[in-house]
Amino acid sequence: MCDHGQSKRGVFSAAVAVNEQICEDHFLLRLHICDPVRKFPPSSAGQFVQLRCKSADSREAGHLVEATATTPPQFSLDELTNHQPLLRRPLSLGGRREIDPGTTELEIIYRVVGTGTRWLAGLKSGAELSVLGPLGNAFAIRTDKPKAALIGGGVGIPPMLYAAETLSENNIEPIAFCGAQTSQLLPLTVDGAPDTGGAPSLCTREFTERGAKTVITTDDGSLGFRGFVTQAFQQWCDDSGVAAGQLVVYSCGPEVMMRIVGDICIDRGIECYLSLERHMGCGMGTCQSCVVKIRDNSEQGWSYKLCCSDGPAFPAELIVWE
Ligand SMILES: Cc1cc2nc3c(=O)[nH]c(=O)nc-3n(C[C@H](O)[C@H](O)[C@H](O)COP(=O)(O)OP(=O)(O)OC[C@H]3O[C@@H](n4cnc5c(N)ncnc54)[C@H](O)[C@@H]3O)c2cc1C
Ligand code: FES
Repeated sequence: MCDHGQSKRGVFSAAVAVNEQICEDHFLLRLHICDPVRKFPPSSAGQFVQLRCKSADSREAGHLVEATATTPPQFSLDELTNHQPLLRRPLSLGGRREIDPGTTELEIIYRVVGTGTRWLAGLKSGAELSVLGPLGNAFAIRTDKPKAALIGGGVGIPPMLYAAETLSENNIEPIAFCGAQTSQLLPLTVDGAPDTGGAPSLCTREFTERGAKTVITTDDGSLGFRGFVTQAFQQWCDDSGVAAGQLVVYSCGPEVMMRIVGDICIDRGIECYLSLERHMGCGMGTCQSCVVKIRDNSEQGWSYKLCCSDGPAFPAELIVWE
């Protein structure tokens, strides 16, 4: 197994290289970090960053909100009136590359859902923003199993791109199962017609570039297999003849989807890691806002873990769903 223990993290200033709309509500963001003093630390598939979704100018940039037992938090007028979020927003790493000595490119795909992501969508090339990362525990990459199924739903697809790249580099065959409600919400470039029966093919540019075939599913049948990504995966498990012991599953997406992925894998004895999502305040294990129940040997059979620092990826069989 590759060792993907927690890496060092830091706060970095990044320049927007690309911020373009790739489908309805979804943007591809490429950030360049060129810090003469520190390189962006090593990162792995499954990790994420926290982006500050507000301008770095004026006093907001260095403004600290401090609270003690006797002093309430202090907010500036800007923070109360300018509709820019106080807290950073967590976004998965979709990839990372060194583009020239000293410059690291981070790739992120985000969906515009609220205040912070709407602010991100307005950023022009050359704009600066603050990146905290890399954060989280990363996927455990099993080098002793020849195949991996990557199951992504909606904004759970970006970390699957990073995972596909890492798996291919380790000579493991990745197969991506990507689900969206409808074709307009699929954050991938479709090359050729995806199989409507759910067979993997080289039908998306992004996964093909990373050595993976893709199965596309849409709930409304507007592209690829009509139905849920979990149905296509289950069908593939039945039809492909791949033995459970030869396969690892990595998944990220809506909780209801991951729960079904977990159940399918547990039933069939397939090793499975799920990347959970929680509202995150700090992203670094301090604020305790992101707890998840994880099975253990304690008397009650579980204890709280932090999604941001113990996760976001956990073995499916350890997650206590609520
Ligand atoms: C580890 C992690 C990785 C993520 N990776 C991605 C990614 O790669 N691409 C992407 O588009 N999104 C990703 N998300 C979700 C993303 O963080 C939220 O969509 C974003 O924070 C919303 O910020 P906002 O200010 O635009 O929305 P807000 O105005 O804060 O909220 C708008 C709506 O989004 C919901 N929301 C906000 N934050 C979260 C959250 N953390 N989890 C679930 N629902 C939330 C709110 O309940 C509300 O309904 C990730 C979340 C986590 C925890
Ligand atoms: S987000 Fe603060 S502890 Fe997890």
